[in-house]
Parts: sequence; structure tokens; C-alpha cells
Amino acid sequence: MAVKVIVGSQWGDEGKGKITDILAENMDLVVRYQGGNNAGHTVVVGDKTFKLHLIPSGVLYKHCQCVIANGVVLDPEVFFQEIETLKSQGIIVTPDQLKVSSITHVILPFHRLLDNRQESKRHEEKIGTTGRGIGPTYTDKIARAGVRVMDLMCRERLSKKIKKHQWEQLLPDHTLDVEAIIDQYFELGKKLKPFVIDTSLFINQAIDQKKNIILEGAQGTMLDVDHGTYPFVTSSNPVSGGACVGAGIGPHKIDEVLGVVKAYVSRVGEGPFPTELHCETGLRLREKGCEYGTTTGRPRRCGWLDMVALRYAIRVNGMTEICLTKLDVLDGLSTVKVCVGYQIDGELLTEFPLDVDDFTSAEPIYEELPGWTEDISGITDFDQLPANAKAYVQHIEKKSGVKITMVSVGSRRNQTIHILQPN
Ligand code: GDP
Ligand code: IMO
Ligand code: MG
Repeated sequence: MAVKVIVGSQWGDEGKGKITDILAENMDLVVRYQGGNNAGHTVVVGDKTFKLHLIPSGVLYKHCQCVIANGVVLDPEVFFQEIETLKSQGIIVTPDQLKVSSITHVILPFHRLLDNRQESKRHEEKIGTTGRGIGPTYTDKIARAGVRVMDLMCRERLSKKIKKHQWEQLLPDHTLDVEAIIDQYFELGKKLKPFVIDTSLFINQAIDQKKNIILEGAQGTMLDVDHGTYPFVTSSNPVSGGACVGAGIGPHKIDEVLGVVKAYVSRVGEGPFPTELHCETGLRLREKGCEYGTTTGRPRRCGWLDMVALRYAIRVNGMTEICLTKLDVLDGLSTVKVCVGYQIDGELLTEFPLDVDDFTSAEPIYEELPGWTEDISGITDFDQLPANAKAYVQHIEKKSGVKITMVSVGSRRNQTIHILQPN
């Protein structure tokens, strides 16, 4: 048995959904511990593509129970839409399989409105949020003004909370009908009730029963509100430590932290990105890697792998293993670059700078490695990879000091190389 956290090492979209799905075959439980429907986790099975925003990526296996834990922010409308979409794709999700925490905070219509309003006022300092109401909902949580899932079950309590809330002062020209919102969310609460439990108790019981559990992170380390490129971040803690708070388990219950690392880097939204490529190669990575947002459809910015940022991610997450994804996207490049340091104000830096202004002005220092011409998307055995592709993987392993246990070479389940580690 093991409790494993799956965490994004970069700015999200590393392929966490695919990796969670693959490992979920042998899991009893997959838990989402933070974020909301800002996430877009893609799982490809046969000719079907599943885009999961809120529901954990273990849901495609009937035997695997899923939990939306307390650290998530939940949009109940999206929750039921996602269940309907899955149904239309042949996946029936029942309250037996899927559990929702009673203390999860709820995204309400005014949170979405506030998110978009705040973003439009930011002018040059835009964050490029997904507009799903994530920031304002977490703001309310911290300000102790939030509405939680359990509040939806009692009309009186819900009404009091929504009316006491100061949102109307922030949106003086809104056209939302408050009574209609209360009615709608009370109804959604009734529908939600069969799914709702004390998920911390449920997860801890599963741990005591020695079950196999994945804690599935959304977003990535560089979007973490504490450890990311603040203020160009999301409003939660994707890092592995966030899994304890967000799922209600003790730190000593976690056995493994698997970092999902894309073989290059992408970022969607605003904010600094030293290894971003504005040239033909950047466009090539975007097109070959299908780098368009799963949630918003926005084109993702692409660039070379950044080892400075990766070593930082390894440190703040306590990563015990790495899964390297989308290696196939680098096929056909004559050389592949890896950033090993930054030049900032004439100084060479090999540790991640915490000041976003330093990070913005960072000039990447690159190491160049020879590329490979072969198509690797059908390879399932590490030894069959072209020598230069193998050397690239081994180089990252050596520079990061963390074992690479999986390499992904395509979006499908069978496009995965499992690397056996010597005992
Ligand atoms: P997540 O948010 O971390 O789950 O990642 P996304 O699903 O947003 O983005 C990853 C995209 O890359 C999805 O379209 C996946 O189907 C796809 N993908 C995942 N792994 C691989 C891989 O190894 N190679 C290729 N070419 N695509 C992959
Ligand atoms: P997954 O789980 C990539 C980015 C947004 C924006 C910033 C803040 O699929 O990896 P928010 O709506 O969260 O307040 O936006 O965070 N962002 C993501 N980028 N992948 C994600 O999720 C993201 N979730 C949020 O683009 O820059
Ligand atoms: Mg994504």
C-alpha cells in the first residue's frame, strides 16, 4: 500500500491527468486536494478523450473511488455538468464512487463575476485567470466569509451567508438575482447531498485499511500561491504540502511524491517565463504538443526545460520520483536545450530567485544536447529509445538527483515507458 502525491512541477498542464489515470488502475482512491475547475486534466482512452476539470482522474476505473476533498473549491453546476458529460461518454458516476467534502468551499455566481471584473481592472498586471471564480472563492475562505458545501443543505443558513456577504458592494452594477441564487444553490445542495461526507475521515480510514491512494494535484508548483511566481499564480497550494491540508491527513501518511515534469515547459496566462521561446521552435512545440488550454482553449506559451525551476520544485515538494512527459514532442529537433542557470544583473544564479522582478529579468543560460530524428511515440521500452533521447532523460535525472520512474511518449495509456529501478 502507498499514499502518493502527484504534483505538477511547472506551470500546470504537465500531463498529471494522464499519469494519474495510468496509476489509478492499481489504486483504491484518487483524491483532488486543491484548485477547482480552473484545472483541465486530459485522459485519452482508445478513441475517447476525457477532459476532467473537477472530478479526479481515477474516475474512469469503476473500482477506483474518488474524492473531492476540503481543499478544492467546488462549482456545483460544473460538478453536475461534468457528471453528465462523463455519462454521455459511457462513464456512470455514482455517489458510491465519488465523495465530496462537506467543508469544501463553493464557487457562487458572484465569484465568477468578481474574478472577471478584477481581471479587467488589472490592465497591464493581468494574471490571465481562467475566469472560473477561483481567486474570489479562496479569498472568501481565508476571510472567513465563504459558503461551504454543508451550507447549501440549509436554506436559512445559505440565505443568511449570501445576504451577509459584502459582494454587492464590490459589484454595485450587478444584475444577479439574489433570491434566485439562493433557490438555485439550495436545489443544487439537495442534489449534491448523496455525495457529501466527511472526506478526511474517509481518507484516513482508507489509509488505516492500507489502501492505495493517489492525491492528485492540480496546477503546478510555479502556480502555487506561496512558492510560485507570485502574483502570477493561482490561489491555492498545489505543492505536496497542500495535499495534507487539502485532504485532511497528517504529513507522515504520505509515502511518495511523484513530480510530473514535461520534457519542455509551457505556461498559459501571464507572468514571467525565462525559457519561453518566441521563435519557430516555440511554435513547433505548441503545435506538436497540442499546447492549447484544456479549460480555456488559450494557446500555451512554450519553452525549453528549466532545471533551475525544476530543482526548486523538487525541493519545495520533497519529490521522490519524476515522471517525464511529452518526450515525443521533442522528436525531430537537431538540438535540445536545458536551462542550467540565470544571468540576473550580470550575476550568475543557479538557485531559483524568489523576487518575481529578478525572475522577470532572468536571462537563461543553456546547455545544449543533441536531438534525435526518430519517432519515439510507439516505444514502450526505455532501452529501445534512440541514444540521444535516452541521454536527455538520463541527463535530467542526473542534474535533478531524482529518479525518473516513467517516461510518457504520447497521450494514450500504452504510450508510457515504465523504468524499473534497481533495488
Ligand atoms: P494536466 O493538466 O497536467 O493533466 O495536463 P493537460 O491534460 O492539461 O495537458 C497535457 C496534454 O498533453 C493533454 O492533451 C494530454 O492528452 C497530452 N499528453 C499527455 N502526455 C503526453 C505525452 O507524453 N505526449 C504527448 N504528445 N501528449 C501527451
Ligand atoms: P491544470 O491542473 C495551467 C493559471 C491561469 C492563470 C493563473 C491563475 O490543468 O494544470 P486562476 O483561474 O487559477 O485564478 O488563474 O493560473 N492556471 C493554470 N495554468 N494549468 C492549470 O491547471 C491552471 N489553472 C490555473 O492560466 O495564469
Ligand atoms: Mg491542464
